[in-house]
Amino acid sequence: MTRPRSRFICQSCGAASVRWEGQCHACGAWNTLVETAVRDAPAARRRSATTVTATALARLAESPVARAPVGIGELDRVLGGGLVAGSLVLLGGEPGIGKSTLLLQAAAGVAGAGSSVLYATGEESAGQVRLRAERLGLLAGAPGEGISVLAESAVDRVLEAARAARPTVLVVDSIQTATLDELEGPAGSVGQVRESALRYQELAKTEGVVVVLVGHVTKDGSLAGPKTLEHLVDAVLSLEGERTSGLRLLRASKNRFGSTDEVGVLEMGEDGLREVADPARAFLGEHDQPAPGSVVGVTLEGSRALLVEVQALVAPAGYGLPRRTAIGLDPARLALLVAVLGRRAGIGLGSHDVYANLAGGLSADDPALDLPVAIALASSLRDRPVVRSVGGLARRLREAARLGFSRAIVPRPGRSVGGDARRARC
Ligand code: TYD
Ligand code: MG
Repeated sequence: MTRPRSRFICQSCGAASVRWEGQCHACGAWNTLVETAVRDAPAARRRSATTVTATALARLAESPVARAPVGIGELDRVLGGGLVAGSLVLLGGEPGIGKSTLLLQAAAGVAGAGSSVLYATGEESAGQVRLRAERLGLLAGAPGEGISVLAESAVDRVLEAARAARPTVLVVDSIQTATLDELEGPAGSVGQVRESALRYQELAKTEGVVVVLVGHVTKDGSLAGPKTLEHLVDAVLSLEGERTSGLRLLRASKNRFGSTDEVGVLEMGEDGLREVADPARAFLGEHDQPAPGSVVGVTLEGSRALLVEVQALVAPAGYGLPRRTAIGLDPARLALLVAVLGRRAGIGLGSHDVYANLAGGLSADDPALDLPVAIALASSLRDRPVVRSVGGLARRLREAARLGFSRAIVPRPGRSVGGDARRARC
């Protein structure tokens, strides 16, 4: 009888089973079994003869970080200056948001600087990648020569190609299509995703290749894949936005080689993603006349101040509970602001439906948007436009001033210091 090459391990208690079961036989937890490859312990590790020594902090050798800039300013900014050799990067985002486009453009930038890229795709055929490259104008010149495409989802074969070609960067599009022969589970199952990522991590660490994994995330949070990888990778980037709007926000939620504070602003056009001339005002709606319920606020995304338009609509509710709908804003915060307005400002919205939205598909949970949201609600209820209001600190105001705003409605300085909830009441 052949030995099974995979086990199902309970993520709750660690018990192993040879087949998948809905409930762990040891601890009784449900749906906690994840398929894991069986590894033979290396002989050297079993009989370790050498003594293990740790090194004093002061005597640790310096290890310079080699970075490969990708040539897209906003992506380099979020990465902290470029891709770091030997690192594993996860790029997450909803399907169709532009991950493959961004990575093909980044690959072109890397190739343009004289390095090579292996683009392994299990999502599309080589022909489809060619079509995209043609649309992006990347077929000729350095990108055409420096990027090799492999339409393959079997991890072992991608690794074999990468070990043979030794590219500077390996793109795996996507980790949900990656499969290992020794696992029974289908592509995209937690076991397959995690084991595949581990193999790619090994390649990154042993060969010094930058491995960029693409991970699909659904709107209602994250699917089995990407979340389970976050602790494993060196950087987690996410591409956000609405497909109907061309604007995309690139964030790093984890970065071992840079700050997680930086955001990049990009715009999807006919020929791919490009940088936006003035990111600070990219998310601002266009109005000739001030409209009721529309207020501009300033949110800080990392070290970058972005002007955003809050749009609110307040309408008498029909039967039943009044609706509270928030798009791009935290619904609980919206409910709180409605309550604060009713209690402290005499603006009762208890019998009204309330809708609040951030223009441009942006989402933000900055408390500095409380005041703009509150004013937008009041403005919509009274059907009176607000010219402009800006909430926030000196940097927000500087950015607004730089963009030509001469008047700002801000909380009284003495009262804004203690907490953000109070700001909304000012
Ligand atoms: P894609 O990169 O395939 O998304 P993902 O890999 O995240 O699933 O991009 C998908 C969308 O982008 C698709 O609807 C077409 C659009 N697009 C453009 O608008 N302009 C372009 O130049 C390209 C290549 C794609
Ligand atoms: Mg894609």
